[in-house]
Amino acid sequence: MKTITSACLLLLLLSPLAQLRAQDSQEPVQSNGLALTPPMGWNSWNKFDCNVSEDLIKQMADAMVKSGMKAAGYQYIVIDDCWQVSRDKEGNIVPDPQHFPSGMKALADYVHSRGLKFGLYSDAGTKTCQGRPGSRGYEFQDARQYAAWGVDYLKYDWCNTGTQDGHASYLLMHNALLQSGRPIVFSMCEWGTAKPWLWAKDIGNLWRTTGDIYDAFSRREHGLGMVEILDLQAGLESFAGPGHWNDPDMLEVGNGGMTDTEYRSHFSLWAILAAPLMAGNDLRDMGAATREILTNQEVIAIDQDALGKQGSRVWKNGDLEVWARPLKDGGRAVVLFNRGASQQTVSIGWEDLGYPAYLSAAVRDLWQHKDLGKFTGKYSAAVASHGVVMVTVKP
Ligand code: GLA
Repeated sequence: MKTITSACLLLLLLSPLAQLRAQDSQEPVQSNGLALTPPMGWNSWNKFDCNVSEDLIKQMADAMVKSGMKAAGYQYIVIDDCWQVSRDKEGNIVPDPQHFPSGMKALADYVHSRGLKFGLYSDAGTKTCQGRPGSRGYEFQDARQYAAWGVDYLKYDWCNTGTQDGHASYLLMHNALLQSGRPIVFSMCEWGTAKPWLWAKDIGNLWRTTGDIYDAFSRREHGLGMVEILDLQAGLESFAGPGHWNDPDMLEVGNGGMTDTEYRSHFSLWAILAAPLMAGNDLRDMGAATREILTNQEVIAIDQDALGKQGSRVWKNGDLEVWARPLKDGGRAVVLFNRGASQQTVSIGWEDLGYPAYLSAAVRDLWQHKDLGKFTGKYSAAVASHGVVMVTVKP
């Protein structure tokens, strides 16, 4: 009798219906516990496109240290698309032997020897966006391989995915990375297609919210410049927090398509958004202004604030707007932003920051590195065209 019951139970468990139920059961996803503040690092794509090699990556790791970027908190060196060429007979992913002759383990070791962490890129579909082999059908094998090489970060793209389901595809690689036994930050890059902020909290550590950034202040109808990406972040603030961040795409600071004033705005706004700070420029020959922007410790401290609350747009009137986020110490970080063609005065009232108007609060300018004194009810500043004034307000 007992044998019959067990056999029945086994049959039931193996039935398609039971399998369907198991998938539907919404078992809680185990998060990887990483990226409690937004990841900071460098990625090859914005500047170098497909032109990646081990020499370039080594030079970038050296420059990350030498330039002061590492000291400022940047950690990950991530190779984007085009490092892979094929799969071998066993299905193992093969790095381009011409550009990465020493292999990925040696390169990861080099990056680690500089006190940095190492990242790679793959794609949930059959091919990457540049037509290299994707991870579809090889998720666990690839994750084991990354772990064996010493990979610390995986950016996972969404090209050539046909009818694949976003949630299922990213969950699969999330599980594969967890089972690899190595802590690997999981950067989801499905461009906001299936609104990952609604379902990826425990799956990805960061998820792209939009298509690719273009190195321009504004692109209007031609694509996504910095301000078009910014506008698409409004309303997403409640979905981010420690371990799971909205990703408005990598930084263009230093790539030449914007003025230094505009790059200062880009960096300040990304910090208010608690965005991952992935530099996308050539770290080997940064000008003084680029370095000063990317290593501004006071702005980085806002991005990395331990409360992990993404900022929101708290006031807007035409070309003028104010973005703010609450900080762990009870203060606020505030960006006064002017999209207009000429300098204008922008004000922030305490009530828009959630403070009573009678409060006296200390204001500090994070680009001038200067305490501005105590203010009651509001703070106003002249803001340059396309520029920001970024302050903290502390009662
Ligand atoms: C997509 C991604 C980019 C970059 C390229 C590489 O467009 O959104 O960030 O990774 O693919 O091909």
